[in-house]
Amino acid sequence: MCGIVGYVGPRDAAPIIFGGLKRLEYRGYDSAGLAVVEDGKIQVRRDAGKLDRLAALLEAQPVHGLIGIGHTRWATHGEPTARNAHPHVGASGEVVIVHNGIVENFLPLREELAAEGVTFGSDTDTEVIVHLVERYMSLGQDLATAAQHALAMLKGAHGIVLMSSREPDKIVAARLGNAGGVVVGVGEGEMFVASDIPAILEHTRRVTFLESGQMAVIRKDGFDLRSLDGKSLRAIVQTVPWDPVAAEKGEYKHFMLKEIHEQVRSTTDTIGGRVDFETGRILFSQLGLTAEMAKRVRRMVITACGTAGHAGMVGKVLIERLARLPVEVDIASEFRYRDPLVDRDTIVLAISQSGETADTLAAMEEARKRGATLWSIVNVVGSQAMRLADGTITMQAGPEIGVASSKAFTAPLIDLYMLAILLADLRDTVDGTRRRQLTADLRRLPDLVGQCLEREKAVEEVAWSLKDVAHCLFLGRGINMPIAYEGALKLKEISYIHAEAYPGGEMKHGPIALVDKEMPVIAIATRDPWYEKMISQIEQTKARGGIVIAVATDGDDLLPPLADHILWVPPTPWLLSPVTTVIPLQLLAYHTAVLRGADVDQPRNLAKSVTVE
Ligand code: AGP
Repeated sequence: MCGIVGYVGPRDAAPIIFGGLKRLEYRGYDSAGLAVVEDGKIQVRRDAGKLDRLAALLEAQPVHGLIGIGHTRWATHGEPTARNAHPHVGASGEVVIVHNGIVENFLPLREELAAEGVTFGSDTDTEVIVHLVERYMSLGQDLATAAQHALAMLKGAHGIVLMSSREPDKIVAARLGNAGGVVVGVGEGEMFVASDIPAILEHTRRVTFLESGQMAVIRKDGFDLRSLDGKSLRAIVQTVPWDPVAAEKGEYKHFMLKEIHEQVRSTTDTIGGRVDFETGRILFSQLGLTAEMAKRVRRMVITACGTAGHAGMVGKVLIERLARLPVEVDIASEFRYRDPLVDRDTIVLAISQSGETADTLAAMEEARKRGATLWSIVNVVGSQAMRLADGTITMQAGPEIGVASSKAFTAPLIDLYMLAILLADLRDTVDGTRRRQLTADLRRLPDLVGQCLEREKAVEEVAWSLKDVAHCLFLGRGINMPIAYEGALKLKEISYIHAEAYPGGEMKHGPIALVDKEMPVIAIATRDPWYEKMISQIEQTKARGGIVIAVATDGDDLLPPLADHILWVPPTPWLLSPVTTVIPLQLLAYHTAVLRGADVDQPRNLAKSVTVE
């Protein structure tokens, strides 16, 4: 996952930046670099691979300066090579940037800059930002003002840190949306900036978190906070605990809330390096999937537990719809006990955040015995589910600490979407135009996730209506039916409210008998192919005096008169809609649990990794 560290003060910047990057190493990355201003000139050292390669480079070609910025990169646009590694310097050599996020409109911006005569030294989206900043500086603007103008042109969520040899006493940092945090660290006569607190914790505990739409102009003796439209703001400096675990929570009260909010970043990282948006092609290099195999395989069995199983249920819809490959979803704890029908023409795909769930591993071993091709989607790199498999997709969600899974649910949804496109491509079930459309939809996803997160306050208000209930019913259909299951699981595991989920069409076969004003019904009724069916479900619920909380698409005017509360989500292509519909349900479970005084991160009786049968 991308990490940022910056320093300005009386000490040599490079070792401090390098040390900070080292502390972010556990998040995963595929290239690294840093830049310092040395004798009035920007010097960059960067390389593909791990930090030891950067260390070797720094030893061979040392750099010294009192101000600098550094980055560990997880590739999004362009391969993980030295030329694509951050920092990126503009054409003048006077401005340098490190960046987390995806510039959604980088193609038109790159064309615009190319038409002005700009040449590009990398394949990254990030590079357009530094050229835009240079464009405005060449008109006489200072670094901060030029950055404001450049940032106003970007679509998407971003954490950005800039430096210029023309103004070698300052670092400019900004946050737009939620591509991870930007935190300013206040030292004694020295200042720091980072994407994550652990990077600077050994130097200072006094920090300010930038909100979306804020910019900090940082000098060695302090910083100014302003909005991105230039208004001066009052900065609140808070003291974080030394305890690295508590510090890791940063600005959030619980890990679960932090992890819910990390989903813009995890979405970005999950897509990163896997999609060629120009051709619409998907690259899963560790899967070992060939065209011959994609055509030969007769079916897929997805096996997993809990939340991972719900992701698998969405995967079934995606893969069957796009790749026309039959998919079964099997609860891992049941798989090995029912003499499963798998053979060498079956792919068995295990999904597991931890990669250590005993039932999932046992299902994989059973599949192996029967000759199936074994794949896994895992979050923890090096876990058993990764080692056992013939091919792997890593989630790139970053460490998940809260027992209730959130970002490790949306990450495999995106992986499964990409896998469906890849299989469809190799099986010739989608053409190039459709493929490009599907991948273009993917590029908008981090922003849509960000929009869902911005509505947290409204979700929190709805949580009050669940605070004292004993039971809840979740309904969904089609691709959002598994989201009803996931919403119910989240609510029950952290708030201890009994929650059931059903496919909407099953209501009339029994569960409707439960409906009364004591049992809220949470219905996912977004604008997908099952929308009208869900509306009729909601009408039936209302006719029986039920309380309805609907997840609905912005602009829907049928639902407001029907539902008691609405959780709005932005319009999302339906194949990707589970990624946005689940976010209000994660937030709803979280806030309901907090209102009930529950221990959100460590709910009773549950473990993060279930390593026993
Ligand atoms: C999710 O909120 C749960 N804590 C649980 O269902 C979990 O998804 C399940 O135990 C599977 O874990 P895994 O993904 O690590 O295999």
